[in-house]
Amino acid sequence: MAPMPTKDQVLQALRGVVDPELGGDVVELGMIPDVTVSEDGVVTVGIALTIAECPMRSQIEQDTMRKVGAIPGVRDVRVETRAMTKTQRAEVMTTARLKARENAEPTLVNPLTRVIAVGSGKGGVGKSSASVNLALAIADLGHRVGLLDADIWGFSVPRMLGTEERLEADEDRIIVPVVAQGIKLVSTGLIVESEETALMWRGLMLSKALEQFLKQVAWGDLDYLVIDMPPGTGDIQMALSRLLPQAEMVVVTTPQKAAQKVAIRVADMARRSFMPVIGVLENMSGFECGHGEVYHLFGQGGGDDLAQSLGVPLIGRIPVDEHIVSGGDRGTPVVRAYPDNLSAQAFVTAARRITELVPPAQDETCTARVARLLEALDAPADAVPKTVTSLA
Ligand SMILES: Nc1ncnc2c1ncn2[C@@H]1O[C@H](COP(=O)(O)OP(=O)(O)OP(=O)(O)O)[C@@H](O)[C@H]1O
Ligand SMILES: [Mg+2]
Repeated sequence: MAPMPTKDQVLQALRGVVDPELGGDVVELGMIPDVTVSEDGVVTVGIALTIAECPMRSQIEQDTMRKVGAIPGVRDVRVETRAMTKTQRAEVMTTARLKARENAEPTLVNPLTRVIAVGSGKGGVGKSSASVNLALAIADLGHRVGLLDADIWGFSVPRMLGTEERLEADEDRIIVPVVAQGIKLVSTGLIVESEETALMWRGLMLSKALEQFLKQVAWGDLDYLVIDMPPGTGDIQMALSRLLPQAEMVVVTTPQKAAQKVAIRVADMARRSFMPVIGVLENMSGFECGHGEVYHLFGQGGGDDLAQSLGVPLIGRIPVDEHIVSGGDRGTPVVRAYPDNLSAQAFVTAARRITELVPPAQDETCTARVARLLEALDAPADAVPKTVTSLA
């Protein structure tokens, strides 16, 4: 059994819960008046919201449940939400304003952007194919999507999206993502001349590359940033959780039961680094032949098993489809080239599931309105807008 979670661990996890409008996490903004951890691993988190009927309320509550629930040893999370007093509200706004002035934003990824890292414990299970097709499917649902190929040396996304464009930097040395098939893309494959020259860079900038891709790329206002993770559970994974505390993970696995050990390793790492697992995506599930018969080429049940042991949903099963292979080689991803294929439909279903589990952040929030209200109250009386009373 995992050891009892500490209060510090809970506060650390809560630093991953961001109030996007105020540009800070709920801890630094002073929105967490109390945290208690009971002996049987039940964590109670008190959250003080600017207004009780805050439209952000369910998002903040759900993020809190997910992030705190991901700490090993936590059996249950209870969230007690209450409204701030007027004085507390003013304090929070002061903190938020100070923060905004400090411009403490460490990356160029908008805090409103939901970050979905696609990982696995082992190579070749279909992370890149899934990242590309999920990113396109999420974009087709009407969201603004970016795709970061964090597989610095083993990049494969540019080929899969069929782009040979090159990344360029503007006069401030800020990199402008390439737009491929409607999504913003950044990959070392868009910098280096060939896969051979990429090898020469090995070791030179591995640790820095991800950081640069997050700090020097003009990602703009994205709803989702999908990150294709390299195989394994190493540096890049830890760096990601440090740089983007809001990152959450989709674990890709095969239906084969023996593959579970590795996948569990990733999930463990995700938990240690406070990166919650949103769900499991099983790839290379049954192959359906033209006659409707299904062959389980790579085993059966692995996705369900893993999802169950992690206590997260299975967000989809992607069948074996030769068009995933050929589409990846030719730059014609299956969700776009063969939308009627079972695999394409499975990707669309999984994408929809992801957007349900991690809905796009709302940008017009109660806190924004309260901020404007307080701003207005600071202003001379005759400058207070007429709508003020209806905001309270
Ligand atoms: N559902 C599928 N049906 C058939 N082939 C698939 C499927 N998913 C992935 N593949 C193929 O399996 C191979 C590995 O897939 P992919 O490159 O996406 O895996 P990966 O996990 O990103 O690998 P790496 O760990 O090397 O980054 C590719 O040739 C891809 O086309
Ligand atoms: Mg890959």
